[in-house]
Amino acid sequence: MKKVFLALTIIYWLRSNAVLWRAAAQPPPAVVIPPDGQEYLDAHNRARAEVGVGPLKWNFQLAKATSLLVRFQRDRENCRFANLTSGKYGGNQMWATGEVVTPRKVVENWVAEKIYYTHDNNSCAPDHRCGVYTQVVWRNSAELGCALANCLPDQSTLAICFYNPPGNVIGESPY
Ligand SMILES: *[C@@H]1O[C@H](CO)[C@@H](O)[C@H](O)[C@H]1NC(C)=O
Ligand SMILES: *[C@@H]1O[C@H](CO)[C@@H](O)[C@H](O)[C@H]1NC(C)=O
Repeated sequence: MKKVFLALTIIYWLRSNAVLWRAAAQPPPAVVIPPDGQEYLDAHNRARAEVGVGPLKWNFQLAKATSLLVRFQRDRENCRFANLTSGKYGGNQMWATGEVVTPRKVVENWVAEKIYYTHDNNSCAPDHRCGVYTQVVWRNSAELGCALANCLPDQSTLAICFYNPPGNVIGESPY
C-alpha cells in the first residue's frame, strides 16, 4: 500500500512538473523576434539613435508581407526590384550579387547614403538616393518588418523592409 502511494505521488509530481516545464519551454510566440529580425531592428535603431530618433518595433505582419513579396519577386520576377509605389507601407529594398548578404549589411547599405544627406536643408546630393536613409531614420515610422530571398542561378539577393507608418512624406523632414 505504501509503495502504491509513493508511486502515485511520484507520478503526480512528474505530471505537475511536466506541465510547468512545458509552460516554461513555450513563451508566447508573437513576442519572440527571430534572430534576423533582431538584426534588422538593431541596425535600424543604431542609425536612429545617432540622430536622436526613437527605436522601431518589429511587426510580424509587416515581416510576413515582405517575406511574401521577396519570394514573389524571386519566383516570378527574376529577383528584380519590387514595385513599391502603390503600397500602403514605406519600403526600402536592396539587390546584391557576389556577396553574402546579412540583415546588418542590408541596413548599412541604406545608412551609407547618410553622407549625401544634408539635414539643415533636407536635401540630397545630386545622383544619390538619400530616401533609403531618410526612411530608416524617419521619426514617425514606428514599426518594421523585413525579409530577404536568395535567388538562383546568379546567386543574387533581394531584401525588402516595410515601415509603418510610411516615411519620406514629400516636403517633410525625417526628424
Ligand atoms: C508601379 O506601380 C505604379 C502604380 O501601380 C505604376 O503607375 C507604375 O508604372 C509602376 N512602375 C513600374 C516600374 O512598373
Ligand atoms: C543644402 O546644403 C548643402 C550643404 O550646405 C549644400 O551643399 C546644398 O547645395 C544645399 N541644397 C539645397 C537644395 O539648398
